Amino acid sequence: MTAAERVCAFLDEAQTYYLATVEGDQPRVRPFGTAMVYEGKLYIQTGKVKPVSKQLGENPKAEICAFCKGQWVRVTGKLLNDDRREAKVAMLEKYPNLKAMYDPDDGNTQVLYFEDAEATFSSFTAPAETVAL
Ligand SMILES: Cc1cc2nc3c(=O)[nH]c(=O)nc-3n(C[C@H](O)[C@H](O)[C@H](O)COP(=O)(O)O)c2cc1C
Repeated sequence: MTAAERVCAFLDEAQTYYLATVEGDQPRVRPFGTAMVYEGKLYIQTGKVKPVSKQLGENPKAEICAFCKGQWVRVTGKLLNDDRREAKVAMLEKYPNLKAMYDPDDGNTQVLYFEDAEATFSSFTAPAETVAL
């Protein structure tokens, strides 16, 4: 299992993670759930109309954090836009329920992937472990 696959499996199990972005000097955080590994990279999904998308366009630095079964992961890196249709299709195939709201050709659906990223797995009972994505 690659590091990206390990992080994605953790996010899948946690179901909800929290995505932090930066707006000027103000941190912004919100719940997210989408995650997939595509061409070896960890992807998330959003809508271009959302403030989160605008924030990432202006400053791609982001962190996500999720907690599950006594362990938490923090992923730090840049979230970069991938406008390829096939990447959007892959995301909607993983989350068919999203098809009620999103379409690869709607001009809104956006997928982004982590670049220059690392993930740290932590718990109260074991040393933290950091892996490159
Ligand atoms: C459990 C949960 C999972 C969510 N997953 C996503 C997601 O994967 N992508 C997304 O764009 N919005 C998702 N949302 C909705 C966002 O949290 C919401 O649109 C938020 O307002 C976006 O942040 P912004 O207002 O700063 O743009 C989710 C909400 C919840 C409660």
